[in-house]
Amino acid sequence: MTSPIGVSILGLGIVGGGTVELLNRRSDSIAKRLGRPVEIRHVVVRDPAKARDIQLPSGVVHTDALKAIDDPAVSVVVELIGGHDPARQYIERALSKGKSIVTANKSLLAAHGPELFAAARKHGQCIAFEASCAGGIPIIDALTRGLSANAIRGLVGIVNGTCNFILSKMTKENLSYAQALKGAQDAGFAEADPTLDVSGRDAAQKLAILSSLAFSQQVAEADVICTGIDTLDAREITFAGELGYVIKLLASGWKDAGSGKLSLTVTPTLVRKSDVLADVSGGFNAVSVWGDAVGHTLFYGRGAGSLPTASSVVSDIISVASGSAKLHFDTSRVWPDLTPRAQTLAPEASVHRFYLRLTAVDRPGVLARVTDLLGKHSISLGAILQQESASETMVPVVITTHQAKRGDMLAALKQIDALDVIGAKTVCLPILGTV
Ligand SMILES: NC(=O)c1ccc[n+]([C@@H]2O[C@H](COP(=O)([O-])OP(=O)(O)OC[C@H]3O[C@@H](n4cnc5c(N)ncnc54)[C@H](OP(=O)(O)O)[C@@H]3O)[C@@H](O)[C@H]2O)c1
Repeated sequence: MTSPIGVSILGLGIVGGGTVELLNRRSDSIAKRLGRPVEIRHVVVRDPAKARDIQLPSGVVHTDALKAIDDPAVSVVVELIGGHDPARQYIERALSKGKSIVTANKSLLAAHGPELFAAARKHGQCIAFEASCAGGIPIIDALTRGLSANAIRGLVGIVNGTCNFILSKMTKENLSYAQALKGAQDAGFAEADPTLDVSGRDAAQKLAILSSLAFSQQVAEADVICTGIDTLDAREITFAGELGYVIKLLASGWKDAGSGKLSLTVTPTLVRKSDVLADVSGGFNAVSVWGDAVGHTLFYGRGAGSLPTASSVVSDIISVASGSAKLHFDTSRVWPDLTPRAQTLAPEASVHRFYLRLTAVDRPGVLARVTDLLGKHSISLGAILQQESASETMVPVVITTHQAKRGDMLAALKQIDALDVIGAKTVCLPILGTV
């Protein structure tokens, strides 16, 4: 067997810990597969005094990132710190020293992917980032290799386990958002500060990366129209259930057949209970991808967590060490430093079926005024749910529509919400269509 492949791991938290555990557990089979062993030469942490249940030779864990990056015996630097600084500086330094990168850092790649990929190319290295989207699901490999024969029409994903856990709890246990969030925090599924997840931004970062690769266009997080679950009222889940739907936070990227422009959204969406995505519960993720040749494909698995994410990180380390990641990086022109900037469809032009919850006075003629305004904007109705009340109080009226342009819907709602019989801003959510 030839000399070992030296690896430095920056970060020994949830993913870093799982990565070390998996490299240790699978060291013999990895060495057999590569024809040489992987040697963890450095593991960099912030706090060396922290108690850790990790098997590593003494001296390997330390706080000196530059020593770990600059070690001439290291050829792969694995960035598992997260955030932008110093992760970005460490990656740039490692590339400039002739090391390839494995990272799980979606936030950094969504913001600075094109520059970092260009830097890797300039220095003759590569960046592997399977763990950055959907944890243990090999969706990046699928989009850049397995589905490469297809023109991708669209993808729809449940890519944030925290939101999916909260929504599953709200649905199955009839909890409010606040109660379900507390349950998610107690179960270790949500951070003490859950903003990045529940605002939908984490999903938007993943969608930016996935749609860049699916459509070979440079997509930034800011291109994604994003609404989180933090303002979702539990009544939407109840009414959606009565109509035969569940609510999921969906990240959707579609290529408009006519203009070629991309429609990119993260938003709570009604999903029919019979749809496969409706059964994706708790911390699981799933990504549906439609290709012109293959049709519908579905990728499902654990979207986060120590070993599932480490599964992607270690697979990337193996691909980099074997040379296949570099070959792929050099020969496929799908990476965001090589593709044109995405053109996005105006949000008003996107077409959906919609769920509406109006708060309306329970009086004859009110519904007729609402449906008249919808009709004037070419919006036709699907179902109506209205609760009876004893007197002329405000009651929820739930309406589903047939397909309509978002712009028409927004214009109609502006007029509807201005009616004297409407007591609160109407809730409007898209319904996942059949493709
Ligand atoms: N958690 C998941 O399930 C998951 C899934 C997919 C992708 N990711 C991504 O994976 C990356 C790591 O996430 P994580 O959950 O493992 O984070 P984490 O548990 O917070 O661990 C971060 C690690 O980085 C170290 N660190 C932080 N700042 C440092 C610095 N300036 N210098 C050196 N070390 C530093 C920390 O050291 P100390 O231990 O000393 O504090 C810790 O070991 C992030 O980009 C995240 O988005 C996470």
